[in-house]
Amino acid sequence: MSASGTFGHGLEMRHFVPPEKLGAWVSKTVTMRPRHGNPAPRIQETEAGFLNSIGLENRGVESYVSDTLPSLSGIASVIVTNIGGHTPESFAEIAAYLTGQEGIHAFEVNLSCPNVDQGRLPFSTDPPVAEAIMAGVREVTDKPIFAKLSPNVTRIGDMAVAVEAGGADGITAVNTLLGMGVDWRTGAPALATKMGGYSGVGMKPVALRCAYECVRAVKIPVIGCGGVRTAGDVLEFLAVGCRAVQVGTANFSDPGLMARLPEEIAGLLSDAGFESLEEVIGRVDRVPAHA
Ligand code: SIN
Repeated sequence: MSASGTFGHGLEMRHFVPPEKLGAWVSKTVTMRPRHGNPAPRIQETEAGFLNSIGLENRGVESYVSDTLPSLSGIASVIVTNIGGHTPESFAEIAAYLTGQEGIHAFEVNLSCPNVDQGRLPFSTDPPVAEAIMAGVREVTDKPIFAKLSPNVTRIGDMAVAVEAGGADGITAVNTLLGMGVDWRTGAPALATKMGGYSGVGMKPVALRCAYECVRAVKIPVIGCGGVRTAGDVLEFLAVGCRAVQVGTANFSDPGLMARLPEEIAGLLSDAGFESLEEVIGRVDRVPAHA
């Protein structure tokens, strides 16, 4: 799957990755009203990934329905619309607005954007709040709903339990780590908002640990996300129990990457003597720690 915000709103990237090659296309976050996003600079490359503070820029749900969704009709792929809100109630509002729309197969509920509300993450650090948001979305849609969680918590397993109790069908683990950059000579922050979300290969061990904690905490499937750029990375997330994996930051430097991954994964599996992907899923708990 593509990770939200890294592969367009619709199928803008289909010339790099044929739609049918992906398990699912996940949109950039859509909100009820258009958002201009945060002031520039709002992106900076780091030694191993980048910082962003986009601020959920998008053209709003009306434009998504009139301009983006029609371009997705008849496409042989699963479309997951990532939705955002500024209050707990507004998540249900946008889910209700979109649930009748053809062409959307599932919602990913973005509880975890670190670039709004001064990085306070009000929807992804407090289990009862996250549970209530998912319950509100659950009430207005029969489509599958995934909760996208933040790594910026002490016990992500508690968040996973909460969103499962709220009715989530799956969990995306995880969004970006809160980070910052600064020019020590001038004192200028890398991002106008000073803090933003760090993503990229450097966060993979954190994301893997978060995904594993979620897998252990709940029964619903977990979608791994964070620092994935190779077939081996995908298999690591499956080995800790994820049922699907998203690729994000790596798409910016290698937009054709996801088209190659299925064959590369099959090649690694066959070289290592595995007969199916199922043998890898959750493997970390089936072998002794030092095997
Ligand atoms: C953004 O638009 O600021 C990034 C989205 C996110 O991190 O959820």
